[in-house]
Amino acid sequence: MQTETSVLVTGGAGFIGANFLLRMVPKHPDTRFVCLDRLTYAGNAMNLRAIEDAANFHFVQGDICDTALLGGLFEEHGFTSVVHFAAESHVDRSIEAPLAFARSNVEGTVALLEAARQAWPEDAAGAGDRYRFVHISTDEVFGSLGDSGQFDEATPYDPRSPYSASKAAADHFARAYFHTYGLPVVLTNGSNNYGPFQFPEKLVPLVISNALDGRAIPVYGTGENVRDWLYVKDHCAALEAVLRRAPPGETYLVGGDSEARNIDLVERLCDLVDAVEDRPEGYSRDLITFVEDRPGHDHRYAIDFSKLEAELDWQPEHDLTDGLRATVDWYLRHPDWLEAVRDDSYRDYYARQYSEA
Ligand code: NAD
Ligand code: TYD
Repeated sequence: MQTETSVLVTGGAGFIGANFLLRMVPKHPDTRFVCLDRLTYAGNAMNLRAIEDAANFHFVQGDICDTALLGGLFEEHGFTSVVHFAAESHVDRSIEAPLAFARSNVEGTVALLEAARQAWPEDAAGAGDRYRFVHISTDEVFGSLGDSGQFDEATPYDPRSPYSASKAAADHFARAYFHTYGLPVVLTNGSNNYGPFQFPEKLVPLVISNALDGRAIPVYGTGENVRDWLYVKDHCAALEAVLRRAPPGETYLVGGDSEARNIDLVERLCDLVDAVEDRPEGYSRDLITFVEDRPGHDHRYAIDFSKLEAELDWQPEHDLTDGLRATVDWYLRHPDWLEAVRDDSYRDYYARQYSEA
């Protein structure tokens, strides 16, 4: 990245965005990072406490759908890059309330692409490395795999949940802005992330926090669905490489080389929590409760990230054993964080969701 650049990071108070900013702000003191985040239930300014006073960091609370706000921010800060994380991100919520996903994920992405198009020169894609729009997406846009095979950059889109449909639509808009307007867009499709600062509605932090509190640990269906788990810090390293070196118009899949069945992952997490808390063997496994399956539940995701490895020299540094241990350790050292993010709406949501668990 050049010095004296200015980067707009949307959704930087959420899980992956916060990990990205905590990595990038101290590492690139000559680059200005502006975080734009609406602070929904999933975003929390306290995630950014370690950098909030940094001279090269600025936080703005606002909505990516607010076109006037976006225009003003581009004018004020002269952004040369956008790293776009902001989205509604939880599949179960998308099944309950899909419109919010269409709004933030589709309309919000188009508003942001349009703000960049208005602000940047027409030949931005040809202006060397000066301008970049990194659109962060998910492997869920590709649908569901059988027991073998992997997604790669040529896999056709086949989204099956309102969440993945909204991300797929956003991806198509991002590519359309590259082809139609020459906007220097780069896309990534990452697999399931886990690590510090993940809101405890997603599987990994949910299991850790429920095990800690001795609450039922809900496993959907028979727990045989497979995900490819990516430690969030590895994902952020990949995103830095993409931001700095990826040519406009390219797409990269990012995976952790760590496939696991949900039930196996949950049992490993239970054992890790019990070991640290010095509990009898099997204590947390006894909390596992099989509940009704998620409608349209994708069976398996797996990622071939060889393009990212070959072109940008990236590979994950954490295997599932290191990554899960580091993650459990982080949550056990931050009970205050868990307490603070679980507000009343979260409690009500889960009371409804798991009343039968
Ligand atoms: P998250 O839900 O933890 O954080 C999303 C952030 O976006 C929150 O801070 C929220 O306040 C903000 N936000 C939501 N709507 C907004 C709006 N309209 N305007 C401004 N801010 C808004 O999500 P995450 O897990 O950090 O995911 C970040 C991005 O990465 C998403 O685009 C997601 O689709 C993608 N992704 C996530 C995963 C994963 O496993 N978590 C994997 C691959 C890709
Ligand atoms: P999740 O963390 O919601 O990520 P995604 O749906 O984006 O993959 O779920 C990961 C897997 O865990 C998925 O197969 C659904 C399953 N799951 C459960 O079994 N129980 C739960 O309480 C949750 C939240 C998820």
